[in-house]
Amino acid sequence: MKTTLLGLTFLTLVTGACVSADDHSPATVKEHFKHDFLIGAAIPVPHVNGLDPQADSVVSLHFNSVVAENCMKCERIHPAADRYFWDDADAFVKYGEDRGMAVIGHCLVWHSQLAPWFPYDEDGNYVSVDVLKERLKEHIHTIVGRYKGRIHGWDVVNEAIEDNGSYRHSPFYDILGEEFIPLAFQYAHEADPDAELYLNDYSMALPVKRDAYVRIIEELKKRGLRIDGMGMQSHIGLDYPDLKEYEKTMVALADAGVDVMVTELDMTALPTVQHGANVSDNIQSKDNKNLYMDGLSEEVLKKWNDRMADVFRLYKKHSDIISRVTFWGTHDGMSWRNDWPIKGRTDYPLLFDRDYKMKDFMVAELAGEETEK
Ligand code: GLA
Repeated sequence: MKTTLLGLTFLTLVTGACVSADDHSPATVKEHFKHDFLIGAAIPVPHVNGLDPQADSVVSLHFNSVVAENCMKCERIHPAADRYFWDDADAFVKYGEDRGMAVIGHCLVWHSQLAPWFPYDEDGNYVSVDVLKERLKEHIHTIVGRYKGRIHGWDVVNEAIEDNGSYRHSPFYDILGEEFIPLAFQYAHEADPDAELYLNDYSMALPVKRDAYVRIIEELKKRGLRIDGMGMQSHIGLDYPDLKEYEKTMVALADAGVDVMVTELDMTALPTVQHGANVSDNIQSKDNKNLYMDGLSEEVLKKWNDRMADVFRLYKKHSDIISRVTFWGTHDGMSWRNDWPIKGRTDYPLLFDRDYKMKDFMVAELAGEETEK
């Protein structure tokens, strides 16, 4: 790679990566992991629309995959029974394509951010089994069909299982029972036979949740339905999950015959008040533990970087079974974790800081340094 002095200065400013003048060290994250897995980020609409040019620079430079942060969720893309809103999703797909990236669709069936009309009739009662099947089929066929051949893979069903291993009582489950999952996979495959299809959930290190998904994957496979991968969301913290259990889940999923994907990686630097990642569990508290409004202490910064280095060491160890690692956002300033599980805190969960500077653990990784254990 040839780097002009101007280019080098720009790269260093924007990424914080120590790009040496010698031509051997990979300067970008995607180049560094090119034999391991795809690497990417969730992209919000303002970014796609050019309102965060510095985020665009780091994403274009470092990542080879993008996922829609919100614009493909039911409430946004299908706000009324007879109305779809395509502008943002179209722009998102084009954004990824223009940059030659693997574009991930997120998500077709999810109880949260579901358009309010979807499971109800005019009287506010749940629709019948047949009506919900019809709605689900139309929804999935229309969206997946529109982007046929352009989406690398779809999160077909998001968050179907509770942390105790039982099925979540979503409208989909309450009306269709366990069948809603195979049906969704069938409809998605009908609409784009070449697209990869995934399950996705949080708290995947929990043994009962891991076992529940292994059973679902086995059932889908038994029925001859396409299932390519399982996303482990990975909204993690400094003291959770136990990386040994997290690793066991990776191995169990691979043994069940699917790719493992880390789909929503972010690690809070703030004290743990919440282990799961149920988006509706926002905590109200007077003491909001907003401890680092002016930046992290050296001690916490080191802890954060050391743990992220451990997490990536694990990903590299299992790069034969992991097909993608995606951060849930680009830089700390735009992360949802500033507002969850407690609103209005200053958090530091992503790969780039508020000045778009790459975090130390990755700078060291790119430089090939063996980070401290
Ligand atoms: C879940 C969803 C994502 C996103 C995050 C938090 O994990 O899968 O789409 O909403 O919560 O923002």
